[in-house]
Amino acid sequence: MTQTITVIRGDGIGPEIMDATLHVLDTMQLGLAYEEADAGLVALEKHDELLPQATLDSITRNRIALKSPLTTPVGEGFSSINVELRKRFDLYANVRPAKSFPNTKSRFPTGVDLVTVRENTEGAYIGEGQSITEDGETATLVQKITRKGSDRIVRYAFDLAVRTGRRKVTVVHKANILKTTSGLFLKVAREVAAQYPQIECNEMIVDNTCMQLVMRPEQFDVIVTTNLFGDIISDLCAGLVGGLGLAPGANIGKDAAIFEAVHGTAPDIAGQGKANPCALLLGAAQMLDHLGKPEYATRLRDAIVATLEAKDSLTPDLGGSGNTMSFAKAIASRI
Ligand code: NAI
Repeated sequence: MTQTITVIRGDGIGPEIMDATLHVLDTMQLGLAYEEADAGLVALEKHDELLPQATLDSITRNRIALKSPLTTPVGEGFSSINVELRKRFDLYANVRPAKSFPNTKSRFPTGVDLVTVRENTEGAYIGEGQSITEDGETATLVQKITRKGSDRIVRYAFDLAVRTGRRKVTVVHKANILKTTSGLFLKVAREVAAQYPQIECNEMIVDNTCMQLVMRPEQFDVIVTTNLFGDIISDLCAGLVGGLGLAPGANIGKDAAIFEAVHGTAPDIAGQGKANPCALLLGAAQMLDHLGKPEYATRLRDAIVATLEAKDSLTPDLGGSGNTMSFAKAIASRI
């Protein structure tokens, strides 16, 4: 059966890495059909809107989107198109795997294989209740955490652990100081954890987590945390394993899911064929897992690892002299 997905080519290096990713997906003959939709600068130029209704309708219809990075121009109405998409579709789980890959010149070429599950819809990060006094001396922000929001994200993390054969979930918090907000998150996390006796659960304060990640990342398996902590921790994890060119992310809700690369539009290398397509390809692998095609997701990840091991046609960020499409073709040839 054909599965239609919404494809957003995006800005900057977006179209290049999307072409490369679709080339690899096509090699696998998955029965995917692509419905293209505009967002970001391209949409602004064509439709005079950053996030056209037709794009929202396409995601609503198909429930699955593969998205390249988007430019959010400064002062154009809302703070970020990505944040807007998360809000519109209630994409409450932000899932970011970080795994050691060969030949990436990272600090941890082996030993890291963890997933950060970040709450995506509440907490300090969404900027609720921001105000500043007239004299500019005092700034305020409301940080709201709910039982519902905490329950569904912690449950998502435990279900992910069960589904993917992972053994441990680390609940990251700051409940010793933020007793109400982080305290509620931790309380709910303990209640949910008790319902998954087969999965080991430990708790860690966020500052210690950062140090532990840098010193002994191999102790982590699944991390679940609130929005702002998750934002920071998942970038730290991407840094451990070789940077943004290898970091994918999924934004998952009940009615829709959007898969993407963590990096931005890289305007400094756009149009030069230098962009590493792996982050979006790994995002596509997350999409295949979500679509119930884990065997294809594994084939795709294995082909990426084999290409990195062979140092075949790697892009300049990985020290190679290949380009975006030659790298993708080298991956496709190993699928
Ligand atoms: P960036 O991630 O675009 O670039 C940071 C550095 O990493 C640059 O030197 C770039 O060349 C390099 N880089 C990024 N992706 C790469 C890849 N695939 N291969 C090789 N090198 C790569 O971050 P920056 O410069 O802060 O943001 C640029 C624009 O991207 C901004 O307009 C920002 O709003 C947007 N952005 C969009 C995101 C999204 O749509 N998910 C996420 C982050 C930023």
